[in-house]
Formats: sequence, structure tokens, C-alpha cells
Amino acid sequence: MRDLFDRINENKGPLGKWASQAEGYFVFPKLEGPISNRMKFKGKEVITWSVNDYLGLANLPEIRKVDADAAAEFGSAYPMGARMMSGHTGLHEQLENELAEFVDKEAAYLLNFGYQGILSTIDTLVAKDDVIVYDVDAHACVVDGVRLHIGKRFTYKHNDVESLEKNLQRATKVAENTGGGILVISEGVFGMRGEQGKLKDIVALKSKYKFRFLVDDAHGFGTLGKNGRGAGNEQGIQNQIDVYFATFAKSMASTGAFVAADKGIIDYLKYNMRSQMFAKSLQMQLVKGALKRLDLLRSRPELKAKLWENVDALQNGLKESGFDIGTTESCVTPVYLKGSIPEAMALVHDLRENHGIFCSIVVYPVIPKGLILLRLIPTATHNIEDVEITLKAFSAIREKLENGIYKRLSESVKTSY
Ligand SMILES: Cc1ncc(COP(=O)(O)O)c(C=O)c1O
Repeated sequence: MRDLFDRINENKGPLGKWASQAEGYFVFPKLEGPISNRMKFKGKEVITWSVNDYLGLANLPEIRKVDADAAAEFGSAYPMGARMMSGHTGLHEQLENELAEFVDKEAAYLLNFGYQGILSTIDTLVAKDDVIVYDVDAHACVVDGVRLHIGKRFTYKHNDVESLEKNLQRATKVAENTGGGILVISEGVFGMRGEQGKLKDIVALKSKYKFRFLVDDAHGFGTLGKNGRGAGNEQGIQNQIDVYFATFAKSMASTGAFVAADKGIIDYLKYNMRSQMFAKSLQMQLVKGALKRLDLLRSRPELKAKLWENVDALQNGLKESGFDIGTTESCVTPVYLKGSIPEAMALVHDLRENHGIFCSIVVYPVIPKGLILLRLIPTATHNIEDVEITLKAFSAIREKLENGIYKRLSESVKTSY
């Protein structure tokens, strides 16, 4: 037998092993200053394409005022305890009612965090005889929720309705044996590559197969559909999504999340969802802040219009300049380039230091070897100048990449960014 920490000390994990080269720059970078299109990185201004403040709510004066007033009134403790015991308030209830109405469901339930919330929602919705069928590229929180399930589960190929159908056939056979039901899970928008889940095609399968449908719409809420009602509304099938989930961590520029469904289902979740029954209630600051944010979604459609103006300018500009932005159908803007990990590091260093552009970088093992994915998140705070500077910078780095300059750089400088 060995000490538990031996393995941990020997192997830091697939990302952890890069810590000494990457920490503070590629991972755990410190972006400073107010959340906006321009922030500071290592003391210099950068155009920020990596925060999910889609609608630019984070720093709107009226939002900041509501947040500050709520903090002054309630502090960060209130209310104390879990909702079920001592942490319930009229404002929590009001927010749930308004969210439910907004996303066209009978009822909603607040969650402290999106990640734990959806994980626990999945855990609560299924029992051992039930079967889960989910998109293989679903977010880690869905994967972890499925991990809690002690019954059968099947993945289907990413956004592939034929593969889903095959797996529904397998799931149906299992469920007929066990006497259980089937839960299908997709994202509304896949946050890495930006495709919308094929929600319309998935719900069409309800005419042939018996299942319930859960959608994680973290990136669709606020950005798609009427006033930001989400991907289900955008695709005209919101009423066929059985359980709708969204987080406050993106368009709402806050913390917290919610799940919405028929009243009977929400009542069940309220009395059985472990992450909420055994955890402190969402802070009042966040509840009051979310009420104000939701109000702005309904009353200020120009914020979403501005977001999309920037999305269109950026995505069209990239396409016209010959960049491969894949199959995005949302604000998430991936740019695919070919290169090794050291080349990617040199390229991102150049983008940040010499062009003042800060975007996220994704490499193997998240995407196939030899590909570099630069992921840009436009927001309502960006402007055409930001887009133009970025397009020029991207053309410059592509040229250097194709001419082998980053390859040579990465070979000569044993990177210590
Ligand atoms: C698809 C998806 N689901 C869930 C979450 C988790 O939300 P939260 O940050 O509120 O925990 C995220 C956030 O990163 C996400 O992208």
C-alpha cells in the first residue's frame, strides 16, 4: 500500500502537468479592471473576447446599483439555511415565478450554481430503472450528473439525430425490461463550437419514442429567442422541452441558475433535489440582482440586438477573411487553425503581447491533435473598432503560423510565458 498523496504528487493530471509553463498566462490568467470589451492583462489593455457577459450587463450602472443596494441591505449572509428549512423568501419565490413565465413553463426552481444544480437535477429526475441518453459532447456538469445515475446510460454522437435514434431504440429495449423511463439530454448551444443542439429534430422523435427531454441552455438563455428566451424558443419547440435549465453565469452576468418545468416536476425537485435540500439558499443579493437582470432582458431588447450586431460583424469578417469558424449558430465564435501545442502557445503570446487581443485557446486533448481552437465570445460591450483590430490581428497571426514563424519561435525559446 502507498500513501494516497503519492499518485497525486507523481501525476498532476492532463492539464496540471502544464502548470509550471502555463499558469498565470494560458491558465489562471488575471484579467483586471471592470468587466467589459477592454480589460487589463499583465498591466496592458487587451480587447477581451473571453468573458460570457453576452449582454454587457455586468457593468451597466443600473445593475451595479441594484447589486450594491442589495448588498447594503442584506449583506452576503441573508437568508441563512437551506430553502426548505430557513432560507426561503418571497423574493426567491417571485424570481422563480418570473423566470417560469419568461421561459414559458409552469414553474421554476432556483439553483445555487449551474454545475451542481444540473448535476443534481439529473440525479433527481432518474431512478435505477430509468435510462439516460445524452450527447457525447455535453458539458462536464451533464457528464457528472449522469455519473451519479446507477442505471443504464447511452451516449449518442454529437448532435447526430440518427445516432440518437439508434440509442433511443437501445434505451427503449432496456426500459421495457426494467419498467423505467428515458431521459434525453442535450445542450441548447454547445459552448465550445457554438452549434445549437438539434432540439427541433430531437423533439420530433417524441412521435416514435417515449422519452422526456432535458436541455442545458447555459449559452442560449439571453442570447437566442424572443428577448433571450433561449434556444427552445428560437427553434419554436420550447413547449416540448420537458425540463429547461439555464445558468445566471453567462447572459445574466451573475451567479446562480434555475430549472423550469411543469409544476408537478418542480414540486418533486423541491422536495428531492439533494444539492438544494442540503445547501444554503441563494443569497438575496443574487436574487435581487437576477430580478433586475431579467427585467432588462424583457425591457431592453437593444442589448441583445447590439450583441448580435457584434456577433455578425465578427463572424462575417472572419469568414470573409477566409477563416474556418466551423458550424457555429450562436454567439460562440470558434476559429480553427492548424498547429502544434507549442505553436499555439507562441501564437497566443503574440496575440496578447503584440496585438492586445485576449481570447481563450483550446488544444488537444479537448480537440483533435494538430488543431488549435481560438474561442471568441462577442458581447454587447464590443464595438466595430474591436472587431476590425481583431480581424487584422488574426490575419497577421495566420500568416506567421503558415510561414512557420511560431514553430521556429517555439523551438528557440523554451517557453516560460
Ligand atoms: C453548458 C453549461 N452548463 C452549465 C454550466 C455551469 O454553470 P455555472 O457556472 O452556473 O455553475 C456551464 C458553465 O460554464 C455551461 O457552459
